[in-house]
Amino acid sequence: MIKAWIFCVLICTVSASTFISPQQTALVIGFEKLYDISLLANTLSDQGIDSILIIPSTTEDIYEHLIEVEVITLNITNAKDAKKEEKALNACEALITNKKILKKIKEIQPTFTIFPALRHDGCLLPWTRYINSIPVIWAQGQEEEYYAIENLRMAIPIQTNNFLDRFWSHIQFRAVISHAENNYVTSALKLTSKHLNNLEKTSLDELYSDVELLLWDYDHILRSDFATLTQRFVEVGCHHCRGIQPLPTTLQKDLVEYRLGTIVVTLDKEHKEIMEQLANRLPQGRQGQAVAWKSKEVKLTDKKIENIFIHSNVDRQDLIGNPRSRVLLSHCADTEFLEAAYHGTPVICFPRNSEEKKNAARGIELGFSVSLNDNYSIDSIYQTVNLIHESSIYREAARRVSLAIRDRPVPASDRMVFWLSFIARNRENDINFSRLNKNVVIKTLAEDVQLLYGLVIGTAFGALFAATTALTWYYQSKSNKHLGRAKGKKFTR
Ligand SMILES: *[C@@H]1O[C@H](CO)[C@@H](O)[C@H](O)[C@H]1NC(C)=O
Ligand SMILES: *[C@@H]1O[C@H](CO)[C@@H](O)[C@H](O)[C@H]1NC(C)=O
Ligand SMILES: *[C@@H]1O[C@H](CO)[C@@H](O)[C@H](O)[C@H]1NC(C)=O
Repeated sequence: MIKAWIFCVLICTVSASTFISPQQTALVIGFEKLYDISLLANTLSDQGIDSILIIPSTTEDIYEHLIEVEVITLNITNAKDAKKEEKALNACEALITNKKILKKIKEIQPTFTIFPALRHDGCLLPWTRYINSIPVIWAQGQEEEYYAIENLRMAIPIQTNNFLDRFWSHIQFRAVISHAENNYVTSALKLTSKHLNNLEKTSLDELYSDVELLLWDYDHILRSDFATLTQRFVEVGCHHCRGIQPLPTTLQKDLVEYRLGTIVVTLDKEHKEIMEQLANRLPQGRQGQAVAWKSKEVKLTDKKIENIFIHSNVDRQDLIGNPRSRVLLSHCADTEFLEAAYHGTPVICFPRNSEEKKNAARGIELGFSVSLNDNYSIDSIYQTVNLIHESSIYREAARRVSLAIRDRPVPASDRMVFWLSFIARNRENDINFSRLNKNVVIKTLAEDVQLLYGLVIGTAFGALFAATTALTWYYQSKSNKHLGRAKGKKFTR
């Protein structure tokens, strides 16, 4: 018995160890969307992957509670009115010319380098080749999704709206892609070939063939604009979502004073006045309602309003998921919207762009949000907050969405870690997976049928048109001859 046990210890550990990868290190790089990319770095370190975050120093808006993530900041000075592409190129140059960072990275030998595709690819794909790390693309938001998919060919975009809208959004995305190519990619590739010696000159397309994994930071339940063609298109939306933790003591103490619960706000500072008005209108005192606003920028002017509390570094999802939270007032950017869905909190959206509008519409469709109908007056906001507070339908719907997102065989963070270590393990195997050749034009059967219809109808109309034209011409020339003869007579007379 003991022998068998010892035998197993030997054999089992040996066989298990073929699946255990050595300690992995992830380099996470982002020049934009710093809050969300720092959340990603934090999840990785949470999951036992050493993670290093490289970001431009210019902004402080990163996740407040990074644990065991080493942050390296680039020293950059951008012109005040610098465009996104300019900033990205500056950041690129600062990164690839920094000897100190390069030395450090060479020592660490990061297994993966994770970064967004849009306004990063032309710089970081050559650089990851240079430092010999596996590039992994992280895509968040519609533009980045489309851009990454256009280059990686790991999915087919699908559009279900009407022809005109389809056509219009196609044009918009093409514009984004060609804008990035013209204003960023070419210059970035030039920069890298100038500064990274010994690196062969290659096209962006060739560089993309290094990419083994696309991490999509969203969830199919909420939006899905494409059909995936490979398992390596991994859905990791809400990778950081977890059970809630207690609020900071001061905030907790303030909020429990109000029996009717909390309205959670994550809007930007332009909404200060209207939120003060809202707090003022809500029932006051012990039988009242509080407004809890997570913001680093907002400072109250009206000190007389007692039921509004601003906190700069409470963890956003602890506030959104708090049992006392009744409704979230948010711009409905992807991550916040996902957090509301995950924690089952009804939301009122204040969208700023087309993507947030799409999220807002989806929230309404799923029943956990109410539209303000573009009416952002205090009356309208107050009424909607009240409506959600007083009816249980919205909370019920939110609970269902929350269940749907949580009830999965593996949580998003595990899925991400699995696929990361999968590509690390199989790096030498050189497995070819279904990535479509860039020249392949993808057509569905429906499109073929439509084309056929078009041809048939087109031919029929064409034939009809030709026949009518020929007939008209024939009769006209016939009657012209008559006329001509008549005229001729007239003139000879
Ligand atoms: C950025 O500048 C500061 C001070 O000038 C310096 O201490 C720091 O090491 C620099 N960072 C990098 C990444 O070079
Ligand atoms: C906005 O909503 C309020 C309250 O429902 C209503 O009184 C007001 O007329 C609305 N404003 C507009 C421009 O529709
Ligand atoms: C993978 O595909 C590439 C081109 O598509 C080909 O050159 C290569 O030999 C393939 N590798 C294997 C292991 O099949």
